[in-house]
Amino acid sequence: MRAAVFDRFGPPDVLRLAELPDPEPKPGEVRVRVRAAGVQPFDVGVRRGAMPGVKAVFPQTIGQEYAGVIDELGPGAEGHGLAVGDAVLGSTMLNGQASMVCVAAENAVRKPDGLDFPAAAGLVAASQTAAGALRELGVGPRDVLLVHAAAGSVGTVAVQLARRAGATVIGTASPANHDYLRRLGAIPVAYGAGLVDAVRGVAPAPPTVALDAIGGAAIGQSVALGIQADRIGTIVDDKAAAEHGTRVVRAGRSPQRLAEVVELAARGVVTMPIRAYPLADVVAAHAAVESGHGRGKVVLIVEP
Ligand SMILES: NC(=O)c1ccc[n+]([C@@H]2O[C@H](COP(=O)([O-])OP(=O)(O)OC[C@H]3O[C@@H](n4cnc5c(N)ncnc54)[C@H](OP(=O)(O)O)[C@@H]3O)[C@@H](O)[C@H]2O)c1
Repeated sequence: MRAAVFDRFGPPDVLRLAELPDPEPKPGEVRVRVRAAGVQPFDVGVRRGAMPGVKAVFPQTIGQEYAGVIDELGPGAEGHGLAVGDAVLGSTMLNGQASMVCVAAENAVRKPDGLDFPAAAGLVAASQTAAGALRELGVGPRDVLLVHAAAGSVGTVAVQLARRAGATVIGTASPANHDYLRRLGAIPVAYGAGLVDAVRGVAPAPPTVALDAIGGAAIGQSVALGIQADRIGTIVDDKAAAEHGTRVVRAGRSPQRLAEVVELAARGVVTMPIRAYPLADVVAAHAAVESGHGRGKVVLIVEP
């Protein structure tokens, strides 16, 4: 198989494509021919050697999100109702940016026909994270939700799910992404020093809940807006959360939550703009994520 690997920690150009032996599915696993693979900030941290919990073995493969077609079942995997030829997507660990991946059958989510492979791959992590965070924060119809970094992958899903739950949503982004946020149903505001006043200026009612997907000043700004500490959640900045007595809402993985969002996406209720790169351009794809700007999701096209 072909896989993105790196031989030392560093910037995007430590990545290269390598030919590796095809993986064989272990008991309970399926092997997937990957069609598209998401790239996320976590991968940047792994590649830079900045993730304390991740032990790299060089040449190290990388990637947490895949969508593709099952080409082999491991022993016992049939019990999960999957068959060779089924299109699936899901989370994996440090190996998704490759032409093949083996994953636990119980964690593979069926890809609806109405969703293409790049869109499916691009929803994997953002959907689980956004849906889990909104659930932990209990976002509902009477809420005015402030989403920090609303144009990114997690923000994009969070805005749409919160609107669907009936909340009013205010989203932070650079002005270039304000029309995009309006199309998602959010009221846009520019991030930066004047954020608190800017939110007060546009909010139809005081914000009641905040989701931070950027860190830094975001939690302090949410506190300054008068939002209760137990309704301010971050998926990024544990240190600031501890300082302000607010929450970390980085829910674990959940194939069920992913399946729910994917069904909405197949019906066009949730959308995710994809910035697509061929697998051969993995360096550029990682650089795009590492820039920290842009809308939606960076996805590698492994097999067009
Ligand atoms: N993906 C996941 O499932 C997951 C899970 C757990 C934690 N996280 C963490 O959550 C964060 C967001 O992840 P993501 O995948 O959504 O990232 P992403 O898609 O790369 O987010 C990039 C977005 O951040 C915005 N941004 C940049 N600087 C900003 C600022 N100062 N204030 C507000 N927005 C700003 C950019 O907006 P402009 O382009 O308009 O500047 C851009 O739209 C990352 O730190 C990631 O590690 C992600």
